[in-house]
Amino acid sequence: MSHTATDNRGIDDTVTSHRATNPAGTNRTIFSGIQPTGRLTLGNYLGALGRFVDLQHAARCVFCVVDLHALTVEHDPRRLHQLTRETATIYLAAGLDPAVCVLTRQSDVSAHTELMYLLESTAYVGELNRMIQFKEKGRGRPRTRVSLYTYPVLMAADILLYGGTEVPVGDDQRQHVELARDLAIRFNREYGRTFVVPEMSPATVGARVMDLQNPTAKMSKDAPADSLGSIRLLDPPEVIVRKVSRAVTDTSPDVGYDPENRPGVSNLLEILAGCTGESDPAALAGKYDGYAALKRDTADAVVGVLEPLQNRYAELAADPAHVDATLRLGAERARELAAPTLAAARTAIGL
Ligand code: AMP
Ligand code: TRP
Repeated sequence: MSHTATDNRGIDDTVTSHRATNPAGTNRTIFSGIQPTGRLTLGNYLGALGRFVDLQHAARCVFCVVDLHALTVEHDPRRLHQLTRETATIYLAAGLDPAVCVLTRQSDVSAHTELMYLLESTAYVGELNRMIQFKEKGRGRPRTRVSLYTYPVLMAADILLYGGTEVPVGDDQRQHVELARDLAIRFNREYGRTFVVPEMSPATVGARVMDLQNPTAKMSKDAPADSLGSIRLLDPPEVIVRKVSRAVTDTSPDVGYDPENRPGVSNLLEILAGCTGESDPAALAGKYDGYAALKRDTADAVVGVLEPLQNRYAELAADPAHVDATLRLGAERARELAAPTLAAARTAIGL
């Protein structure tokens, strides 16, 4: 189901100039971001970061540490600063190459918040009231931050600012990308064609990695630091092995893929598939007649993916000035890319 071709027909010069400068020579522009609200998990890797690395040569890409989004919930300023740098360092350690893609920090590019306001003047409260994440995380609580409510509009601004055609994210972000599409379409209709209408690009495997202890809930970086349910990208191998070996499965003796009725074992198969490049987790089930071997292979596969990342992380973390310089350069490039779209949106809306 591709709407982009039709929705973007006749797009104005701002949008086409993005494309003309696309180094990959395609019309694809990929944008995505991760919030520095906690230590990144295997879910972030399989649903997002690992795919950024695979996609970076296929299109013009902008990947962002979305630190403004981290202000939507209670936060400690010092920890936020540390997590922002840790997340940027993990981007590099995972293999994102600043010579190939733009790596930036959201708060370095003021166009994000400027465009957000223009889009807030396009979005309806009825739309934001429907956002599942807001309903779950804050609705009805008097001390919920206003920014949590308007967060999907900032996310739309992030994407639209760079003319993002594809947004690689985990399954939980589907509704937010839909909103970005709706806002782009509405703005274009009311004020003239200004934005590219983006599409969600979901992972085929690992789009929703579940908590190992509570496999009906998503694995989250907001889990407590000592949680056995979340595998962190920087967990040492022995911790990964322990977490996987203690993962909740079920009472059935055989190994089978059935996410609805057997979420624990299905999640392990999904993780194994995601970490070995296998496209069909169900096909892996037949290779196992017990949980012990499945857990051993899953732990090995996760360690196999994360160990090289951790080694590079150790090198990069020893040189924070290099990471800072990379982000500075990324911010300059991002500002250049963002400026024409913001200018066009301002003009279109009457400023
Ligand atoms: P967040 O942790 O909310 O900042 O998410 C950053 C990216 O990781 C988004 O694309 C999410 O959809 C993705 N993500 C987060 N948790 C998971 C998970 N458990 N499984 C798959 N993708 C995830
Ligand atoms: N909201 C996303 C999340 O929680 C993070 C994010 C912010 C994002 N802006 C974005 C993802 C733009 C993709 C594109 O995961």
